[in-house]
Amino acid sequence: MADQYARTPAGAGPPMLPSIRWDEPPEGPVLVLLDQTRLPAEETELVCTDVPALVRAIRALAVRGAPLLGIAGAYGVALAAVRGFDVEDAAERLAGARPTAVNLGYGVRRALDAYRVAVDKGADPERAGAAALAEARRLHREDAEASAQMAAFGLTLLDELLPGGGHRILTHCNTGALVSGGEGTAFAVALSAHRAGRLRRLWVDETRPLLQGARLTAYEAARNGMAYTLLTDNAAGSLFAAGEVDAVLIGADRIAADGSVANKVGSYPLAVLARYHHVPFVVVAPTTTIDLGTPDGASIEVEQRPGQEVTELTAPRTAVAGVEAGGGMPVAPLGTQAFNPAFDVTPPELVTAIVTEYGALSPVTGDGIAELCVRSRQG
Ligand code: MRU
Repeated sequence: MADQYARTPAGAGPPMLPSIRWDEPPEGPVLVLLDQTRLPAEETELVCTDVPALVRAIRALAVRGAPLLGIAGAYGVALAAVRGFDVEDAAERLAGARPTAVNLGYGVRRALDAYRVAVDKGADPERAGAAALAEARRLHREDAEASAQMAAFGLTLLDELLPGGGHRILTHCNTGALVSGGEGTAFAVALSAHRAGRLRRLWVDETRPLLQGARLTAYEAARNGMAYTLLTDNAAGSLFAAGEVDAVLIGADRIAADGSVANKVGSYPLAVLARYHHVPFVVVAPTTTIDLGTPDGASIEVEQRPGQEVTELTAPRTAVAGVEAGGGMPVAPLGTQAFNPAFDVTPPELVTAIVTEYGALSPVTGDGIAELCVRSRQG
């Protein structure tokens, strides 16, 4: 079951409501999400009391972005455990809610493993639930720490790549506090450049069809007082041609063992443009986004979303409220088929560097990716 509460008008200036939080009102534990389908018009929290509600929220993009999906998945397992639902079934449903962001399955597995270990040691359901929740909280904290480290490494890299300062950065989709336990991935780097007085402009791709750039990144940039300009995705080429982009910074949903990067659809064309115009194309992602089990880009499953998201002008709605995507203003003749992949894949040779919480990898090679994973396992 899900409910909505705590409405506040959206406006300039932090703090924003947390993108995710665990709460324990008298009626029982709940997972509270900042409903990203309602932004930027209003900050509304969505309260999930069970896993089906959370799965609907994930599919409707009320909660989204790779690192946050991992955190949500872990809390979802904890929710099932502490509320006495079937934990194995809940984990399976959560992990399958969206296919591309590897963090979702990773977060689910972390909490599930903690739960299973506790059960194997003879813990009663309450203590096993507490173990799953503690693991979700740990992942949440780790993600915040990784975010701060990526921001620092990313800014150092930018300063090296662009010694003149006054960075003009193009970004795609949304990669800020809305997707993270901290300040995000690519956006966190831009934010640290802003705080250091070295961000001249953040170019924000609107990110068709669900407008994560226009609705969410512009929202976060405005709240942080950053100099930003919104553009249609199609306008990026003109911007490169005019010499107005110094670097591209994006996040990732899955990084394959060979360094191929799946991210929001529209990222790959930016990488091609960046290469043609000799502009660095930098991916910022925690090592939890690396999937050594996926050998290459062709093996990454790309989520296909409903065609209505393209044939109608609409923001994603909360399926929780019983309204699936669609129901917007038609922009194509009735019955038009649409191709609507949520992500695309950029080959490693087009990626200048991948910035993780362990530093920047450049050039991007399979060996380098494997080494990063070894370092992340060593902690
Ligand atoms: O479909 P979404 O909005 O979940 O897609 C999110 C993205 O593509 C982000 O760029 C990606 O998850 C990286 S966020 C750190």
